[in-house]
Amino acid sequence: MSDDNMIHIKGRFLELFSELDEVEIDYIDKWISSHSYKKDLQNKSALNSSEKCLIKIANTIKKLVPFEAELPSENIVPPTIGNLADCTKESTCHIDEFLYDHNTVEDLTQQGKIKRHYCVDCNSRNIKELTLISHSLSRQTLLYIFKFLLPKDLENKQFLDLGSRLGAVIYGAYYLSNATNIVGVEINKECCDLQDTIVGQYSMDNDRIKIINADILDRSDIVQNSDIIVINCLDHFVNVDIHREIWYFLKKHLKKGSYVITVRSIADTLIALDMFEELSNWLSISKPNQMENEMFFDMEDCNEIYLYTVN
Ligand SMILES: C[S@@+](CC[C@H](N)C(=O)[O-])C[C@H]1O[C@@H](n2cnc3c(N)ncnc32)[C@H](O)[C@@H]1O
Repeated sequence: MSDDNMIHIKGRFLELFSELDEVEIDYIDKWISSHSYKKDLQNKSALNSSEKCLIKIANTIKKLVPFEAELPSENIVPPTIGNLADCTKESTCHIDEFLYDHNTVEDLTQQGKIKRHYCVDCNSRNIKELTLISHSLSRQTLLYIFKFLLPKDLENKQFLDLGSRLGAVIYGAYYLSNATNIVGVEINKECCDLQDTIVGQYSMDNDRIKIINADILDRSDIVQNSDIIVINCLDHFVNVDIHREIWYFLKKHLKKGSYVITVRSIADTLIALDMFEELSNWLSISKPNQMENEMFFDMEDCNEIYLYTVN
């Protein structure tokens, strides 16, 4: 490492320190002189390297699916109720967050490959911003789930993703946790084939990760045996009646003490489905289990992810 380089690094640190007050400087000083930053650094490096596996998988999937990441056999319909009801075909653009992270989306926008606005009446400057939606969880969200929300040790636990689609969540469980059984239940056969291809190509352990092509409503056995279940928004994939049925079914079959992770609050979902009263005492909001990793996450990016336990 050259002297110039070291001077540059010092400059960057000083730039950062110059924004701190005395108490904050004191805190950082103790953190560095106690050497406890070394452990944090190790954790950060471990996070970065597990993220690399997910980046590789995302790059493989990009070659297997269209740019919009919607498969020909998928029937994705804008929701008619709840806070996603303003997501019409005209006002939204689907960018899969697992495949394209924030920086990549910015680059693609600069290159003109992603359009961010639409015209509300043609040829005018009266334009509106498109709402970007994703049907997969992003890498950052997966890290947040496995390295902040859930307990660190998931040995002997069964992890279930309800509607595993491209498989983002189950690959996250595989590389970011020690869950003993990882199950993705997905109703769409083409999505299951894609997930099987990835599991095979990356030589994942078939005893540990399983993709089941089924309607979740027919697999109460899997739900009953699961300790953790992730439910990303189903609104674009099921009609209101089936959506309600799925929540009644989960209430009936999920065991006490199991974790439920939802994207957006369960209250918002149940209120939109007009079933909040009946299910309001079913779940309790749960505290994150790995608070020590809080520093690695921007809480604003993850404020739509909720962790509950079944009462
Ligand atoms: C929003 S995507 C979730 C993708 C994935 N969990 C993630 O977060 O990256 C919802 C998925 O649920 C699937 N799905 C909808 N109804 C289902 C059902 N009754 N049983 C199993 N899968 C279902 C859809 O086909 C779709 O692939």
